Amino acid sequence: MTTFTAPGLSSETASTVTKILQERLSALNDLHLTLKHVHWNVVGANFIGVHEMIDPQVELVRGYADTIAERIATLGESPQGTAKAIEADRSWDDYSIGRDTAQAHLGALNLVYDGFITSQRDAIATTGELDPVTEDILIGQTAELEKFQWFVRAHLESYTGELATAGKTTEADAAAAARS
Ligand SMILES: [Fe+2]
Repeated sequence: MTTFTAPGLSSETASTVTKILQERLSALNDLHLTLKHVHWNVVGANFIGVHEMIDPQVELVRGYADTIAERIATLGESPQGTAKAIEADRSWDDYSIGRDTAQAHLGALNLVYDGFITSQRDAIATTGELDPVTEDILIGQTAELEKFQWFVRAHLESYTGELATAGKTTEADAAAAARS
């Protein structure tokens, strides 16, 4: 329970909302590290395009982590921003692709964004019932993340609108499908 929170919000509600936000904070911290990992490990044709496409998204995601952490503090809780917190909060596996082609990384990254955005939408649905101010923050962030996923998908898309990674559910399979 928080000892203080935003006016008009019960400490019980604040506690539920901050638990959801803590998971989003760890997810965002993990995502900007994953994006840098891709930035450093991408090789081959389209290296420079993908290497440089990723950095503005890293900055955006770092900024979103800051916003979410400060929302947790505003609601009276202590945001956990350590590597240990990421590890404790996450329900997903570490990004699994090392040095690889631009297409392979984009295939895997598309799945990372599928998972992230699905969880983000779940958090929007839950916080919408509890705290619309938090919901509003999450909605704004999700729109930009979905736009970046479109940048990723555009590299995987055929002229008939099909994704090279359609039906693939693991990063390794998606990377293999995108690479070929
Ligand atoms: Fe760099």
